Amino acid sequence: MTKALVIFGLGLLLLVNYGQAEKEKHKNKQQQFMSNLLEDYDVNDSPTANTSDATKVYVQMFLNSFGSLNAANMDYSIDVFLRQSWYDERLKFSSGYRANKTRITVNDPSIQSKIWKPDTFFNNVKDAEIHRVTMNNILLRLNASGHVLYSMRITLKLSCSLKLEHFPFDQQVCGIILASYANTDDVIKYHWVDDTPIDLPDELEIAQFDLLNFETSETTQHFVTGDFSGLVVQFDLRRQNGYHVLQTYIPTILIVAISWVSFWLDPNAVPGRVSLGVTTLLTLTTLASGIRQSLPPVSYVKAIDVWVGMCMIMVFGALLEFTFVNWLANKKIVDSGRAFRIPKIFAGSDAEQLACAEDPAAKPPATYMMYARALDRLCRLLFPGGFLLFNLIYWPYYLIQQYSDPEPITVER
Ligand SMILES: *[C@@H]1O[C@H](CO)[C@@H](O)[C@H](O)[C@H]1NC(C)=O
Ligand SMILES: *[C@@H]1O[C@H](CO)[C@@H](O)[C@H](O)[C@H]1NC(C)=O
Repeated sequence: MTKALVIFGLGLLLLVNYGQAEKEKHKNKQQQFMSNLLEDYDVNDSPTANTSDATKVYVQMFLNSFGSLNAANMDYSIDVFLRQSWYDERLKFSSGYRANKTRITVNDPSIQSKIWKPDTFFNNVKDAEIHRVTMNNILLRLNASGHVLYSMRITLKLSCSLKLEHFPFDQQVCGIILASYANTDDVIKYHWVDDTPIDLPDELEIAQFDLLNFETSETTQHFVTGDFSGLVVQFDLRRQNGYHVLQTYIPTILIVAISWVSFWLDPNAVPGRVSLGVTTLLTLTTLASGIRQSLPPVSYVKAIDVWVGMCMIMVFGALLEFTFVNWLANKKIVDSGRAFRIPKIFAGSDAEQLACAEDPAAKPPATYMMYARALDRLCRLLFPGGFLLFNLIYWPYYLIQQYSDPEPITVER
């Protein structure tokens, strides 16, 4: 019994050892193969170092996700798979590494570092991160004919200067600019791949924005250190209006409408009308400061400033109107002969009183109360009418601009 167990245990041990040895053999096989391949390889030389041509690096990006644009910081974040490929003649191999295998995926970081790679960087990057879970998200693959594919997953926070004149009815153009940091365009030349340079997932969601279009182009940047080849992709984005209409426009319309209630109150209802005016004015101020917090302190007037400004004027106007009406209501009439005649439609129930006033025999009213009432009646039409007119100009003006073709703004290079 014990003998059998010992033999079984020994057998198991042998099997495990054999498995490990086999693994080692395979691991060593790639290392061995690669060290043979890289024997005369100089990582500092570009693949075309011995010729007068630049190394062509083909770039393709897959956009994993597109974060929302942050107006306060003027940036946005994206998560991309950056795929670069180039031809390195020195890495050509014939069979020798496993039968019928025409490509090798190099996982070992120490071998990866021995292979020449372009020193790509992003001009407009603020912050970037290569994902490291569960391992470095880097793929380096060689194929037998000497083509190298170098792919990595990066999250980028890129700067984008937003034009906010039409906020929140704005369109924005944001870009990604990449180039070589140290190698001038006679060493590295970037190209977009011919087939889908930018690959987007079917349902790309961008908070608050619609992606209208994107354009790719190739560029050369001229610096004092030389001319550098680079690539640009430019996204045309349009802001969705729903959020701001619900959060800003409808509440402010309601506040302005509430301030009009004042015109239906008695000219002498001082506590009611003053508190109505002051409350609406303060609420509007609070709302406006809330809007300001999510925006950078730019010096030009934005569409939302025009709106909030107009609402302030309406509410403040209602408060001023009350002051005047209350003053009128309490002002004693000195000379009734010079009194202004009120048109019949605004005179209302005061019409009879007015008729009496015109009667020289009747006792003249003590104050300008009926003028005050008439002014209130006039304002019941004037204020909503004025606000409606403003709306009829404001909405078409900004919406037409937002939905017209984007101006050919280009990303700053
Ligand atoms: C390699 O491929 C050839 C034909 O394509 C095939 O005949 C041969 O069996 C393959 N060898 C191995 C080890 O798979
Ligand atoms: C290596 O990759 C390149 C580019 O993808 C391709 O054109 C070529 O045919 C591949 N070679 C082999 C041997 O698979």
